[in-house]
Amino acid sequence: MPTSSVAQMMRRPARRAMVIELPFAGPAARNTAPILEVLGREFRGVSDVLEVGSGTGQHAVAAAAAMPQLRWQTSDLAERHAGINARLAISPLDNVLPPLELDVQRARFPAPASFDAVFSANTAHIMSIEGVRRMFSVVGDALRAEGVFCLYGPFRIGGRFNAVRWERLGRPF
Ligand SMILES: C[S@@+](CC[C@H](N)C(=O)[O-])C[C@H]1O[C@@H](n2cnc3c(N)ncnc32)[C@H](O)[C@@H]1O
Repeated sequence: MPTSSVAQMMRRPARRAMVIELPFAGPAARNTAPILEVLGREFRGVSDVLEVGSGTGQHAVAAAAAMPQLRWQTSDLAERHAGINARLAISPLDNVLPPLELDVQRARFPAPASFDAVFSANTAHIMSIEGVRRMFSVVGDALRAEGVFCLYGPFRIGGRFNAVRWERLGRPF
């Protein structure tokens, strides 16, 4: 190649590459199958689902793929939206909706009684007890009569953790 062509190529502006970060959570990858097993039972007859704290969007796309009859509305704090949107962009699903901005500790739910079900995973244990109360209040606003709320995460039942591994987190659930 003549030197002048090389020189021209060197002067050509580099093409811009757009990097979209796809967040990934190991726990979500591990707990998806057992969660879907329960949701498959509990969400029978359900159409509209709100997810609180969608995080990486992994549960949203897995549930929407496994249960195509659902319309799955993701939500989270604004700072998580780019990651959720990145995951939705690579998931060929038309039954998952882009995230609503929802901080369950601050807001009342803007569209009362618009969901048959609410799902949330690993959110309550990072909130204060007052925050958890507020989340239940927002969930109550969002649900239609006879709606169902499925909440996954660490709990104490009768003073004992629901799974031994939670003991290691050493938190006052
Ligand atoms: C440990 S992550 C779990 C994410 C996802 N549900 C999962 O299981 O992989 C906790 C999630 O709760 C969200 N979150 C924390 N406080 C919240 C609040 N007040 N309202 C709504 N979402 C909240 C975080 O942004 C984060 O996405």
